[in-house]
Amino acid sequence: MWVLPEAASLKVGILGTGMVGSTLGSKLVQLGHEVRMGSRLANNEKAVEWEKSNGPRASHGTFADAAGFGEIVFNCTAGTASLAALTAAGASNLKGKVLVDVANPLDFSKGMPPSLAVCNTDSLGEQIQRTFPSVKVVKSLNTMNCVLMVDPSLVRGEHDVFVCGNDGQAKDRVKEILKSFGWKSVIDLGDITAARGTEMVLPLWLRLMGLFQSPKFNFKVVRAS
Ligand SMILES: NC(=O)c1ccc[n+]([C@@H]2O[C@H](COP(=O)([O-])OP(=O)(O)OC[C@H]3O[C@@H](n4cnc5c(N)ncnc54)[C@H](OP(=O)(O)O)[C@@H]3O)[C@@H](O)[C@H]2O)c1
Repeated sequence: MWVLPEAASLKVGILGTGMVGSTLGSKLVQLGHEVRMGSRLANNEKAVEWEKSNGPRASHGTFADAAGFGEIVFNCTAGTASLAALTAAGASNLKGKVLVDVANPLDFSKGMPPSLAVCNTDSLGEQIQRTFPSVKVVKSLNTMNCVLMVDPSLVRGEHDVFVCGNDGQAKDRVKEILKSFGWKSVIDLGDITAARGTEMVLPLWLRLMGLFQSPKFNFKVVRAS
């Protein structure tokens, strides 16, 4: 398997031990990066297992350990808990870093289907950016299932991944990572307020998943020219 030359290898912090954190973390390790997975507990069982199955470039610790380790950090925590998780990660550990926000503010407290805990005039991406002003928040990958995030070829033809955020250089770094995952069509929606739209497609995404009985689909924007 092709692995990055050492100079191109990044230190990446993954906040989250669910299927998204684990899938993104494993893909980044496979690409040659060093990845630390963070959790509320220093010895979260899923993080221990993930480290074991991903070899020497994988490690685990608390949210703060992972945030401090990463040059780039991915927020893969439950959306309604993301601000708490990022607070535990520590503003000083995140300061000046690119934070790829993959989370969706899904509120399951009233059962299925979930509702959006924030929407319309605000978004989780914006809440994170406001709470951590020194962090370069880039919202991306939240509009698809995690298996597709790291392998767009699972869906035939060209289809789209969105990015938005206030810092152009931060978005460029994230676009490079997306390319390394195999993404060809990356649509830059502008500043972080575009997270409202990418989070608000979730009710549609959830309905489509029920209809197709599979999470392996994605959105494609088609234009006249
Ligand atoms: N599943 C998908 O394919 C998919 C696709 C697109 C976007 N997303 C979004 O990606 C995010 C991760 O999804 P997931 O299914 O992998 O995992 P998840 O079950 O939504 O979240 C798991 C993570 O959230 C943390 N967490 C939960 N409650 C917390 C609290 N009260 N305080 C601090 N941290 C808390 C957990 O911490 P511990 O490690 O300590 O337990 C764990 O690391 C979600 O926002 C989801 O909406 C998911």
